Amino acid sequence: MSAALLSPRMSLVKPSPTLAITDNAKALKAKGMDVIALAQGEPDMDTPANICEAAIKAIRGGQTRYTAVNGTVELKRAIARKFLRDHGMTIAPDDVIVCTGGKQVLFNALVATIGEGDEVLIPAPYWVSYPDMVVLAGGKSVSVECDATVDFKLTPELLAKAITPRTKWLILNSPSNPTGSVYTEGDLKALGQVLIAHPNVLVMVDDMYEKLLFDGAKFFTLAQVVPEIADRVLTVNGVSKAYCMTGWRIGYGHGPSWLIGAMSAIQSQSTSNPSSISQAAALEALDGPQDFIAAHNVIFERRRDMVVKLLNECEGITCLKPQGAFYVYPSCAGVLGKTTPKGVKINSDFDFANALLDEKLVAVVPGSAFGLAPYFRISYATSDDILKDACQRIKAFCASLMA
Ligand SMILES: Cc1ncc(COP(=O)(O)O)c(C=O)c1O
Repeated sequence: MSAALLSPRMSLVKPSPTLAITDNAKALKAKGMDVIALAQGEPDMDTPANICEAAIKAIRGGQTRYTAVNGTVELKRAIARKFLRDHGMTIAPDDVIVCTGGKQVLFNALVATIGEGDEVLIPAPYWVSYPDMVVLAGGKSVSVECDATVDFKLTPELLAKAITPRTKWLILNSPSNPTGSVYTEGDLKALGQVLIAHPNVLVMVDDMYEKLLFDGAKFFTLAQVVPEIADRVLTVNGVSKAYCMTGWRIGYGHGPSWLIGAMSAIQSQSTSNPSSISQAAALEALDGPQDFIAAHNVIFERRRDMVVKLLNECEGITCLKPQGAFYVYPSCAGVLGKTTPKGVKINSDFDFANALLDEKLVAVVPGSAFGLAPYFRISYATSDDILKDACQRIKAFCASLMA
């Protein structure tokens, strides 16, 4: 009876598979099993002390009331300074919205714009929440497969082929969750040429992992590189990943005034302002010292190198070396059709992830959750020792499989 009361759209929404795997792993851990979870989407470092202090000061200073719905003027100004500093873009603080995490920026934008039957192009593999947010907003998510041969990145040819008269949005994410792939300036310029020819397509650019870069890679954002289309780009970012502030829930977006206005209207009738205290902390994050980011990147780069090397030593696994974020996306094509010591036949990446958790107690997320199989995602946002142990278990698991 009670399920029958749910909206029909709920049948189209899946709970986050990354959270489901993490929950399974937690349940096994609670039973006392030695589980290694490599499914987490957050840095393992703590929020820097100066940012925490700014929040404490805000509480003591009475910044405990409602703020402007779409963020404090101080924080929106700091975000405008960040766009100038990092991208050479001069933007108006009024064209910025601050939300409860990057997730709410994306969600507000989709709800504000999607009409029945509108299509949203999502290069796969994609971050798990995009398609479900599109469906919740009443649209149709259209996955565009971008496999390892194109470094998991959308190409101009694939984009041109996927655009239809119903295309409302393209979503781009660099560095990528789940692959770590980074779009170069040239990549973005080439995609921009296609987009210039399609003036009705909006572009949602998710820069959440902007600061997590390796091998001297440089970050570029679409509105900076292709200014001709900047008036239809929503640039989404936040403090969650770079500043180790996932729990603080602050994300922000910059876009055309008409869109930011509509998103703010939705926010005014749903959640109102993001936490005043978290906004004060985010202001310190953006304006304060940035040097810890480079120090974190040294750690992430070292872990990436180790994980990629060890995974490529596993029979049947191949892994590209990405230049950003804290994920790798190895292919498990070479183990399909094999059987585990417990007698489970591996027919998909889903089977692989389940058997790996069951037989070696390592939790990874199957690629089918991200729209491109047969792969799996490993988050290396955990200690070197844990990663080494996990890779050794994966290696032993792969070696134990029978043809
Ligand atoms: C690609 C991507 N975009 C957006 C987000 C959302 O970030 P937030 O925690 O600020 O809502 C995440 C979080 O995992 C992400 O991986």
